[in-house]
Parts: sequence; structure tokens; C-alpha cells
Amino acid sequence: MNKFDFYNPTHIVFGKDRLKELDKLVPQGARVLILYGGGSAKKTGTLQKVIGGLGNRTVFEFGGIEPNPQFNTLMKAVELVRQNNIDFLLAVGGGSVMDGTKFIALATPWEQGREEEIVFLRYRPIEIKSALPFGTVVTLPATGSEMNCTAVITHNQGKFVISNPLVYPAFSFLDPTLTFSLPPHQVANGIADTFVHTTEQYITYPVDAGFQDRTAEGILQTLIEIGRKTIDEPEDYDARANLVWCATMALNGLIGAGVPQDWTSHMIGHELTALFHIDHGTTLAILLPSVLTVLKDQKRAKLLQYAERVWNINEGSEDSRIEEAIAKTREFFESLGIKTHLTDYDVLDSDIESVVHALEEHGLTALSEKGNVNLEISRKILLGAM
Ligand code: NZQ
Ligand code: ZN
Repeated sequence: MNKFDFYNPTHIVFGKDRLKELDKLVPQGARVLILYGGGSAKKTGTLQKVIGGLGNRTVFEFGGIEPNPQFNTLMKAVELVRQNNIDFLLAVGGGSVMDGTKFIALATPWEQGREEEIVFLRYRPIEIKSALPFGTVVTLPATGSEMNCTAVITHNQGKFVISNPLVYPAFSFLDPTLTFSLPPHQVANGIADTFVHTTEQYITYPVDAGFQDRTAEGILQTLIEIGRKTIDEPEDYDARANLVWCATMALNGLIGAGVPQDWTSHMIGHELTALFHIDHGTTLAILLPSVLTVLKDQKRAKLLQYAERVWNINEGSEDSRIEEAIAKTREFFESLGIKTHLTDYDVLDSDIESVVHALEEHGLTALSEKGNVNLEISRKILLGAM
């Protein structure tokens, strides 16, 4: 096992009908800004319940954070926060609203006029000393943003990953019933996102990390068990509760501690979202089978473990077991209703160069657990995903 730090201060409040407890968790006397997306939080009544839980605190609202949150939209919220001396943020939504809130938390105390530096902090590091405190109410189980310190912000034609320990949420409410209203394709996206977060921290090379491996396998098996059911029966509480908790645990640092990681599907996937507007979870279901095929040799030992322990594939040559496991992975995504070929989204062979160019522009030229996925291998992965 590799050396690691594990730090995660987020308080999780899990279960139905607990929004009244916001009153205990949001500081008394706080001036609170509630952030939400395009309107689902209003339509479903979640927003009203959140306001009810805040008692007599002064409450402001900012709606309209779009999927793949845009820097320009978020800057409007930063201005609102500054003008009204807001001192606590509350995100009500999926990954886009939570990530947008993290950006606002970092950008508000940063120097006025230089907020773009926050978006690019991974490429040009800056020393950030403070962030506004915030909590989240999760309405879409997928990204794990509710219990990690990462955000993905869209700026012009690029998606940029921000990570800073100051933006762990103070608390996150996980009430599976708040997700019942999701359309089937968003539930499927959430399952695919959770699945691929798990494989990207698991299908690399062995470092004898028994707990992390078995936990990752547990998440994958749970998703396979409840995936179709929670799409078909959205109000089955137990199935949905399992999805919600898997999504949080897949990307809160637990299974990634002390193991090699490979974020190739995510990094190429972000470019597909930026260029062709394919949903985040869907890009991953398209790319993962191709990534595993192209990188089969360097991942051989873990692919065989994955085949045996997750899919119960024990017979045949090594290559045939690996191929069968990859085929089962694709079938699983397709069984959720996600089409897994780029051509299904009208992306043509001739579009591939624009993706490769974007990867180059964003410095994503040494991906995978070995840093060996250069632009040529990324091109191969994309062609394999057609
Ligand atoms: O905007 P509204 O009207 O709320 O509708 C949203 C949105 O259209 C809808 N929705 C959310 N909850 C709902 C609902 N509709 C009905 N009922 C509900 N209960 O779902 C749509 C998609 O929402 P979005 O937040 O964009 O989806 P998701 O949670 O998949 O987040 C995707 C974003 O997270 C980033 C992605 O790159 C993308 O920008 N990621 C963030 C990560 C992180 N912070 O650690 C890691 C991930 O890998 C990912 O990159
Ligand atoms: Zn993801």
C-alpha cells in the first residue's frame, strides 16, 4: 500500500425528512445564500423545505446554475454574495450546483477582478487562504461532490478541475427521497459516474490494498445489483439509498487512499462534454470499455481480479476473461439505457482530432496510473470508442 493522508471533515446527514435539522447545522444568525439549478429544486418542493429548515435566518436565493457550471454564471453569484455580506452558502442540487458553490466559496474572498485564477489553480498554483463555509442538499447521486473538495468548472470551451481542502462541505444532507424525481437517464448517468469513479481508483495495478480493493468491489457489485431496479422503481427507497451512499463513498477519498489512480476516462470525457455536450456520466460509459481494452496489458492483474471478483468469470484464458469482463461492463451500461459508442451521439471519426487538440491544449498529455497515455494513445482510445 502506498503512503497517504486521509482527511475528510464533512458531516453526513443521511435519511428521509431530515431537512428540519438544517437549523442545527447552519450557524445561528447566518446570512444564507441558497444556490440551485434550472428549476427542479423549485418544482419538486425541495427548495421550500430547505427554506423552512433555515428558521428565521436571512435567506437569499440564486437559481440558474446550469449543468457543467459556467464561470460567467457563477461570477454573478459571487457579486450577489459580496453585495449582501452573505456568510454561508447552501447548495441544493447535483454535482453542478455543488461544484459551482465551491467555486463561489473560493472566489468571493479572493481578489476582485482576479477570480479566473481560481479556475486555473491546478495549472498555475496560487495560495488560497480562505473560503466561505457551505453545506449541500444532494438531489442527484453521482459525483461525490457532497463529500470531497473537488469542483469542475467550465470556462469558455474547457472544463477545469479545482481541488482545495478549504472546500469540503461542512455538511451534506443525503435524503434518497429528494432524488425520486430524477428522470431515468440522469439516474443512469449517476450510476455510470459512480461506477467509473470506482474503477478509476481500482483497475490500475496491485499494491496489496485489501480494504480499498474489497470496498471498491463492494460498490461495483452493489451498483450492478441495484442499478436497473432503481431506474425501473425510482421510489424504491432501499435501492435508491444504496445508490446514494455508493455515489458518496466512491469519491470521498476512502477507496483512493494509498492506491494508484487512473483518471483517463474522466479527463477525455470532460473534453467530450465541452465539445459535444454529452452528459458527464455518459462520456464515461462510452470511454471506459475502450480505455480498459487499450490499456489491457498494464492493467492485466487488476482486470483479472475485476473479472473474477466482480463478474465471477473464472474460466478461459487470461485474455478471454479480460475481454468478457470488458464486454460485461459495456452490457451493464447499455442495460441502464446508455448507448456506449461515440457514433450514437453523432460524433464522427473526423471529430477525433478536435478532442486530441483540446487534450493537448489543456496539458493532458500524460494520463493514466503510469502517466503513459500520450496524445497518440488517447487518439487510439477515442477511435476504439467509435
Ligand atoms: O438544473 P436542474 O433543473 O436542477 O436540473 C438538473 C440538471 O438538469 C437535474 N436534476 C438534479 N436533481 C434533480 C434533477 N431533476 C429532477 N429531480 C432532481 N432531484 O439533473 C440535471 C443534471 O444535473 P448536474 O448537477 O449537472 O449532474 P451531475 O450531478 O451529474 O453533475 C455533473 C457535474 O459534476 C462534475 C461534472 O464534470 C459535471 O460538471 N463532476 C464533479 C466531480 C466532483 N466535484 O468531484 C467529479 C465528477 O467526476 C464530475 O466531473
Ligand atoms: Zn465523474
